[in-house]
Amino acid sequence: MKTIKTQPSLLSKIQNDFIGLDTVYTLADGSKTPRVYLDSTASTLMMGKAYDLVEKFLDHYANSHSLLHFSAKISTTQYQWAHDRVLSFLGADPEIYTCFFTGSGTTAGINRLARVFRDYQPDKDVVLVSVMEHHSNDLPHRKHSGKVIHVKLDNHESGQPGCLSLTDLELNLKKYHGRVNYVAITGISNVTGIINPIHDIAELAHKYDTNILIDGAQTAAHMPVKMSGHSNSDRNIDAFVFSGHKTYVPGAPGVVVCRKDILLAIEPEEVGGGMVENVFIDHYEIKNYFPDREEAGTPNIPGAIALATAIEIMDRIGMDVIYKEEEELVNTAMLRMLENPDVIIYGETDVCKCTRAGSISFNIKDMHHGLTAAILNDYFNIAVRNECFCAHPYVKELILDDMLEAVSDLTDEEIESNYKLLAGMVRASFGLYNKMNNVESLINALNEISKRKKEFSNKYHVDKTGNYVHNTFKMEDENSFSITDILDKTLII
Ligand code: ALA
Repeated sequence: MKTIKTQPSLLSKIQNDFIGLDTVYTLADGSKTPRVYLDSTASTLMMGKAYDLVEKFLDHYANSHSLLHFSAKISTTQYQWAHDRVLSFLGADPEIYTCFFTGSGTTAGINRLARVFRDYQPDKDVVLVSVMEHHSNDLPHRKHSGKVIHVKLDNHESGQPGCLSLTDLELNLKKYHGRVNYVAITGISNVTGIINPIHDIAELAHKYDTNILIDGAQTAAHMPVKMSGHSNSDRNIDAFVFSGHKTYVPGAPGVVVCRKDILLAIEPEEVGGGMVENVFIDHYEIKNYFPDREEAGTPNIPGAIALATAIEIMDRIGMDVIYKEEEELVNTAMLRMLENPDVIIYGETDVCKCTRAGSISFNIKDMHHGLTAAILNDYFNIAVRNECFCAHPYVKELILDDMLEAVSDLTDEEIESNYKLLAGMVRASFGLYNKMNNVESLINALNEISKRKKEFSNKYHVDKTGNYVHNTFKMEDENSFSITDILDKTLII
């Protein structure tokens, strides 16, 4: 794959070219404003250039299993390029690693790898994860691979947890030595944005003869990754999983990059057309080359090509340039939020001790996370996510003291049964298209909400499902979108 010359000046051009940056909604006070999208950790917006190019590709779309017509050749070549592009994006040597697309997010890839690692070393029954994992990098290992041990996080003097504790990791690697099948760790937390030292973790895992899988759902779009080629090969990563919908291509598949020798040692977890050389009535012969061997069935070709386009563009800007730009945004947002004593930020906030990318989770004191998120939407047009972000154990660990103080009059049983309603946070998360004016909007909104808590609270009630709902303003009035309405209006014969 040819080396890409980075062009940092591309950043400003690409930043303004995402679909949905100028979406306008009518707010509870009647004003119409463009949405401020601060929910990229859940899903990023679509990169305009990737959308344009995949639309052009659709002129040639065909199944990559077809062979000899013009479109089949173009589809197959471009689909192959998508795999090569991913390997190059992640600094993964194509001699050692393969890439395959699977499912619609990181979850499918991690479930798949949990079964792969189990079958690769069936005698090893322990998996080490951290307390900060998203459920998709915890439950698949519980279900498929054996006993899951949660490694502790480093606690700083602030009492706020930081990244994974290398000391506790080593203790567990020693304690379960000979039994640990692999270590599965997120590169960046989807809750706090805290970055884990993945290569230090890999070095430790390999010292104890254990493989390392990285949940790269949040990492891929935010920082450079180099899976192989480290001067100390123990720092290489064995498997990395990420997701197209968090990498500026909604609708793109999930992506797995894994060492080929691991995959070749076992029968593929998924079987069907495309991955077999020959099929007879009583047996079948599996292809021994990649990616075909791991991609049964017709793949999501346009999604993979659009994703490869987006990451090629990010590589052309330079992932280190993107990381620096976003680091300034997140750190500025965090410092400005900390100026308001009413805002609690979760996780270590001292950036000298702990670096972050992408996300900041917080609460406004004495305000339910659901209410804060609803007001941010209804009055400020700021889109954020709230609740526990599919990371219940981590959120519980971060929030427990505050939660217990807030509900000190409830019994333990009441706290346990109402846990999901009581616990939670608001998360502001950032992508390539966010700029300082978005940070400014968030800070102004939070300051305004904390000044006018009572006034805002009186405008809401909690509905039967536990959600905060405005007493009079209804989204359906002006901000609806319906495919069937559009079809009714436009498909008139
Ligand atoms: N699990 C994704 C998140 O963190 C959707 O928001």
